[in-house]
Amino acid sequence: MNKKGTKIISLMAVFGCVAISFTSCESKDPNSPGVEFMPDMYRSPSLESNMGYVRISENGKLTTDTLQTNRLPVAGTIPRGFMPYPYANDTAGYAAAGKYLHMPAKLNTAANLAEGEVLYGKYCSHCHGTSGLGDGPVGAKLPGPPPSYLGPVLMALPEGKMFHSITYGKNLMGSHASQVSQEERWKIILFIQKLQHPNGAVAAADSAATAKK
Ligand code: HEC
Repeated sequence: MNKKGTKIISLMAVFGCVAISFTSCESKDPNSPGVEFMPDMYRSPSLESNMGYVRISENGKLTTDTLQTNRLPVAGTIPRGFMPYPYANDTAGYAAAGKYLHMPAKLNTAANLAEGEVLYGKYCSHCHGTSGLGDGPVGAKLPGPPPSYLGPVLMALPEGKMFHSITYGKNLMGSHASQVSQEERWKIILFIQKLQHPNGAVAAADSAATAKK
């Protein structure tokens, strides 16, 4: 046998002994989990989210450690890009949104209309139907199917009230605020208005409806 072979055999013998000694430790207690090679991996510190990690320092005082999780945001701060919605989820808020809330004019573009159609297909058409007649496959299963966008009630609904109902939901329709951003809600409304007024004239219809409120 060459030198290399002897080396391999002796290494195997060492590993064998180590393995046997581990097994013998284990066999003393049938409930023993055995040897833990990396206890840190099994017993990681449990960190609470938004709490920070509190550790008792050497002098016995509670201190916050460098191992921190997210902290609660400072009171009054809002996430970057977030727009607060000022109308309350009640009848007065609904009425006020109908009166004062309007689509920012810069959003009224062909590209946004196309995007609105895609979003409508993802989040609304299964209830409201692809043409907005309230005949989507899920809408048909509801105790009361959604009203048609082309019916007299929704034809006269100001865009602010549409936005409000998408934001908070209405009766059987849940809130869609977490699914579609404020800008996306307007894009969808552009598409609903297109369904309602295939030949345009959205702005005139909306201001007439608003004037009536
Ligand atoms: C689970 C089915 C369902 C989904 C999904 C749904 N709706 Fe509705 N929607 C309804 C029903 C039902 C009503 C009728 C609510 C009522 O007036 O009682 C309604 C009403 C509305 C109204 C009229 C609100 C008003 O103030 O009278 C608008 C506008 C509307 N939906 C838009 C949308 C848009 C946009 C989406 C997608 C982002 C959507 N809906 C998703 C079921 C749904």
